[in-house]
Amino acid sequence: MPDFCYMVNFKHYFEATGERARILLDGFSKIQNRRKSSLQVALSPLDLNLSNAAGNISFLAQHVDPVGYGAYTGKISMESLIERGIHGSLLNHSENRIPPEQIISTVKHADDLGFNITLCLENMGEIEKYVGVTPRYIAYEPRELIGGNISVSTARPDVIENAARLCSKFDVDLLVGAGIKNSGDVEKSFELGAKGVLVASGVVKAQDPLGALNSLMSIQ
Ligand code: G3P
Repeated sequence: MPDFCYMVNFKHYFEATGERARILLDGFSKIQNRRKSSLQVALSPLDLNLSNAAGNISFLAQHVDPVGYGAYTGKISMESLIERGIHGSLLNHSENRIPPEQIISTVKHADDLGFNITLCLENMGEIEKYVGVTPRYIAYEPRELIGGNISVSTARPDVIENAARLCSKFDVDLLVGAGIKNSGDVEKSFELGAKGVLVASGVVKAQDPLGALNSLMSIQ
């Protein structure tokens, strides 16, 4: 699975912010050195300065607004992220949902700049609605499974298969997330057609986060 994408969302977990995030990234970077798959980390906005801490990891923001430079208090500017070497962002995560028109304008703004949007969606209806907007990735994450112990690959295999088929018609890569904890969940996701996984608590809240990532990424 050389092109498989492992995306880890640090959220605002205590274990993955500030100096603790920097230490985690140091370990992630060593793990990534031994892998062929791509490793991406979504940082808290307060920690985006860590994006130059590990050259072999791609970093993304957890949210972005469709604005450049100017009078945009509190917004996260795409142009400003790009200037800092960050070329992607999550969008519309279940914990930070945005209105439909903002999804469309943000993906359009990203297209114009070659910026990679990972559009988070909760069900097949939403995937059908937005696949034609063609973000770089669609991340299918059923809200009710996020942070739990039942993996999306176990609970919603039929949705993953249908979503993967639909996304491939539009040349959009499908990621799946929610409850992913081990390499079996990753393998199943891959078999169902996903091009990557989006994971948070299974790594960040694990007793041994580096061991957890290492074992997730053992599927190559
Ligand atoms: O963005 C990833 C996330 O929402 C999945 O969370 O803790 O179920 O891996 P978790």
